[in-house]
Amino acid sequence: MSEIEERRLFNTYQRYGIKLVRGRGARVWDTSGKEYIDFMAGFGIGILGHSYPDVVKAIEEQLESIFICHGSIYNESREKFLEELFRIVPSHLSRAFMSNSGAEANELALKLARKYTGRKGFIAFTGSYHGKTAGALSVTYSQKYRNGFEPLLEPVKFLKYGDTRALDDADFNEAAAVIVEPIQGESGIIVPPDDFLPKLEERAHAAGSLLIVDEVQSGMGRTGKWWAHQNWKIKPDIMTAAKGIGGGVPMGVTVATENVAQALKVGEHSSTMGGNPLASAAGAATIRAVGGLLGEVEGKGRQIMHGIGNINSPLIREVRGMGLMIAVDLKVRFRDVLLQALSDGLIPLYSGLTVIRFLPPYIISSSDIGDAVEIFSRSIQKIEKKMSI
Ligand SMILES: Cc1ncc(COP(=O)(O)O)c(C=O)c1O
Repeated sequence: MSEIEERRLFNTYQRYGIKLVRGRGARVWDTSGKEYIDFMAGFGIGILGHSYPDVVKAIEEQLESIFICHGSIYNESREKFLEELFRIVPSHLSRAFMSNSGAEANELALKLARKYTGRKGFIAFTGSYHGKTAGALSVTYSQKYRNGFEPLLEPVKFLKYGDTRALDDADFNEAAAVIVEPIQGESGIIVPPDDFLPKLEERAHAAGSLLIVDEVQSGMGRTGKWWAHQNWKIKPDIMTAAKGIGGGVPMGVTVATENVAQALKVGEHSSTMGGNPLASAAGAATIRAVGGLLGEVEGKGRQIMHGIGNINSPLIREVRGMGLMIAVDLKVRFRDVLLQALSDGLIPLYSGLTVIRFLPPYIISSSDIGDAVEIFSRSIQKIEKKMSI
């Protein structure tokens, strides 16, 4: 409990009730010295875990040289980040705008699509989550987040996520862009059927709409490929990334094809902090490090899914996911299970009402995975006992 955070911050977060003071790798410690395995990793940001040595070193070195340099002035750290970034983004995407968060990256993607096409509308999907700033919220589905803030950007049409056939009937002609998560994160790790994204690309492009792929949660290696959409071989016109890309330092990136990027003229978009040298240094070091871990992501994900899948419990409906993006869908609300796991030494994430979500760091060791599965199994058993099932 933090008295000052409770009293002084806007009351916008569901709180876990613990206060963390230290983190190393996949483990964190609270004020009482209690140790946890961190499968939340700052809501999926900590892809290299806590205090990854190369990222710490890059930040320290940058702090010693220069860490304030606006985008209107060239900077070596930003140059190095861009070199790394354009080694890993699909080669048809050639320009980037650097910002500070996922919502900000998506705001620009929407603006860019309107500017490029001259159209106003957007197509998004049921269950989508693209952030809570006004533009990003316009294409975010949940009424719980939208209530009280409408009217937002209009017109936005929501199609059923994963329903390939519905794409044939949908009218894309008014849409500046379609925005899609290749795998939906916040709504509970939903992997679409294999024909969904290719069909979406075909339909959008045939109607002159841009395809925006939101890789904020699914990207940066989370599924074992740099970008989740590469699992379906589609070619977005605009891609957004954030969360792990700065290695824990705030960073968002919007990348686009040359033609689309050229639609934006000097002064039409900016971000005072975007592309700052500190985030750039951390981001470049992160990309280099993730490159060496990418090959391990799928195997580690399989180990977790297999371990959790072997827990024989009437509380678990389904274990699903891809790479290190994993959901345990429960037959009960997630809250009791989450709090029990927390008390037993594992920090999970959640989605919707019934999903426990794991977004562990890619550096997670096999033995830490074993420990996490064992803790979760024990937590589940305790909840079964409490509920007498
Ligand atoms: C797919 C997706 N897009 C956008 C966002 C918003 O990112 P941020 O919270 O950095 O604004 C998130 C955050 O969870 C996300 O999962």
